[in-house]
Amino acid sequence: MKGIILAGGAGSRLYPLTQVMTKQLQPIYDKPMIYYPLSLLMMTGIKEVLIITTPHDQPHFKSLLGDGSRFGISLHYETQAEPKGIAQAYTIGEKFLDGEDSMMILGDNLFHGNFQCFRNAVEKQKKKEGGVKAHIFAYPVKDPERYGVVEFEKKTGRVISIEEKPENPKSHFAIPGLYILDGSAAERVKNQKPSKRGELEITDLNQTYLDEGALNVEVISRGMAWLDTGTPQSFLEANSYIGALEQRQGYKVACLEEIALRMGFIDSKQFSKIIEETPNSPYRDYLGIILKEHGK
Ligand code: G1P
Repeated sequence: MKGIILAGGAGSRLYPLTQVMTKQLQPIYDKPMIYYPLSLLMMTGIKEVLIITTPHDQPHFKSLLGDGSRFGISLHYETQAEPKGIAQAYTIGEKFLDGEDSMMILGDNLFHGNFQCFRNAVEKQKKKEGGVKAHIFAYPVKDPERYGVVEFEKKTGRVISIEEKPENPKSHFAIPGLYILDGSAAERVKNQKPSKRGELEITDLNQTYLDEGALNVEVISRGMAWLDTGTPQSFLEANSYIGALEQRQGYKVACLEEIALRMGFIDSKQFSKIIEETPNSPYRDYLGIILKEHGK
């Protein structure tokens, strides 16, 4: 299973914050936003990741994350010249994917909680039981009209419909920006037509799986936090949420070096070397604490 992070887009709802610096590199409390989606992929065991950015922003992402070797993973980069829709990521990433299954996460989607549900979905996807070729998720929200929305049959839990930003949502279950699709995704996108807003919609792509009875929608429990960061208000809330949690626990959310160590992507020796190379900072102090704790 390969990973994709789609971190393109204009971020127009955050203008003028995004005039110079793309949204996914802005801080969520003490780390750039992209650390959070990347941490999710790493924690589900994905070690090969494609990062799709605008041409203008690509050098910044490269200088931040490099080839991923620091985290024991392999990072690749492609660009999306214009915001032509989320589904386009699959054709942009076609060569990288090389027909493999993938887990794609949007660069501005932030999850926090027990990621076992995502690991389970990845395992299920590998087995393809009952002809299921795609797994997406559903999460209860107050404002479903801002998202893709899934409607379930009450008695059986069967998926009846998925709709992109409906005016009158048929449920309060939004579809987060996290998609596990099989190797046919790129081919499917090639047959897709742009929507009214001129984009290749991820919901239309998922619809092709639903039409074949090959789509599974997993409801994420309320115990998980799913925050998006599209507007100044949701941005502020995400910052406060991570800040409050880190202050309380003394642990960092989405510390990529720590995750690499705990996942066994790097060993203690490599971790010590990272600490040596890290500028003197509270972040470096934290890495030191983690190394000591890990050695116990
Ligand atoms: C996109 C998708 C939508 C999904 C959302 C999650 O919306 O089109 O289906 O629910 O991401 O963040 P957009 O980023 O275009 O608002």
